[in-house]
Amino acid sequence: MSQLHQRTASPPLVATLTLGCKLNQAETQQAARELQRRGCRTTDRPASADAFLINTCTITHVADRKARRLIRMAQRLSPDAPVIVTGCYAERDSDAVAQLGRVRVIGNQRKDAAAETVLEELDRRFGGPTATTTETLASAALNTAGRTRAFLKIQEGCDDVCAFCIVPHVRGRERALPIDDIVTQAQSLIDAGLQEIVLTGTQPGAYGRDRSDGASAAALIEALLSRTDAPRIRYSSIQPQDITPALLACWEDARLCRHVHLALQSGSDQVLRRMRRRYDASGFREAVERIRAAVPNVSITTDIIAGFPGETESDHRATVELMESVRFTDVHVFPYSPRPRTSASLLADDVPIQCKRERAAELRALGEAHRRAAIRDQVGAIHSILFESARAGLTDTYLPVRIEADLDLTNQIRSVRVERVDGDRLVGLLLG
Ligand code: F3S
Repeated sequence: MSQLHQRTASPPLVATLTLGCKLNQAETQQAARELQRRGCRTTDRPASADAFLINTCTITHVADRKARRLIRMAQRLSPDAPVIVTGCYAERDSDAVAQLGRVRVIGNQRKDAAAETVLEELDRRFGGPTATTTETLASAALNTAGRTRAFLKIQEGCDDVCAFCIVPHVRGRERALPIDDIVTQAQSLIDAGLQEIVLTGTQPGAYGRDRSDGASAAALIEALLSRTDAPRIRYSSIQPQDITPALLACWEDARLCRHVHLALQSGSDQVLRRMRRRYDASGFREAVERIRAAVPNVSITTDIIAGFPGETESDHRATVELMESVRFTDVHVFPYSPRPRTSASLLADDVPIQCKRERAAELRALGEAHRRAAIRDQVGAIHSILFESARAGLTDTYLPVRIEADLDLTNQIRSVRVERVDGDRLVGLLLG
């Protein structure tokens, strides 16, 4: 028996901690499943553990700071435990991560080997193989207890290279996974008891653009709907240029969640051009109309950057006007900050910080008012709810709902009629 097992008297516990986007969450979940298959227990809560796998993000300087804080916290929680750091911050600035000491850094290029690296480090630190018993394997299964949704990676990389975005620099060019592999993985997650498959990627809307076998987002979703038993599939992040009649037709199947995340970034044509986005404001409005015509009661959410270089007051007003006309269900607003290696970092960052903050605050307040109105509009509507806890869950349109009955409906999809609104949440009556 290894020293580790003598020390813990149970399979090693690996804390898998994730910062950043759904793609990062998909990759961490994949590594956690591999670790469970190889006899480890995993937790996604910061805890005293035998090893840490930290998957970082570098989308903003705040994300970098959070990564450093998480690494230091892991080192404090378990001073003997190996800390393996991967993800976009590790890829962009491996030296800064290494300087934190007592870490093993693996960039995005080698991320598929993250679980193997954790096992190697456990063996090196505590000696002997981390013995895998059948009992451990059986109890680990996919360790999906308490989980209702799985993030599934369908592609990685981005060929668009928007001026402000660090992601193409740390994720490389587009690489889509084959449809058959995605279908197989999705079905095994459903077989393990998960109810919803969330399709993730750097640029999921561009799925298949790099392949010569005719793969497209529409073909992928049709395959998932026809060849798996997935009760719910969520495919949300797209851009106006990704919308095709075949893709819109996929929403005729109610298992595809009626939620589209269409990142706007700015409502000003001049700013969109400088950002190197592939649409203008009227193209964006038209995309929203096409989605709403094809998908009744759809939720449309967005991201906006406030204070991009050269953004004038009238550019900002164009964003406000576009928000007023579209009325998004949710808006994430980011004050612009330059990222190293991006072409926008060569432009003068000329919007004063106070002005960026004021514009961001105005956009957030407007987004919040629209969100409250969108929530109020649901009173009387019937939704299918995936319960993430005993009495609370999410509509397929990604709105939070609770019921007042004394039942445990965790991980069930049930029909609910919305009766009223309580703060930011819908309150409903269970129908069946
Ligand atoms: Fe962050 Fe990398 Fe995702 S920079 S947003 S974790 S692709």
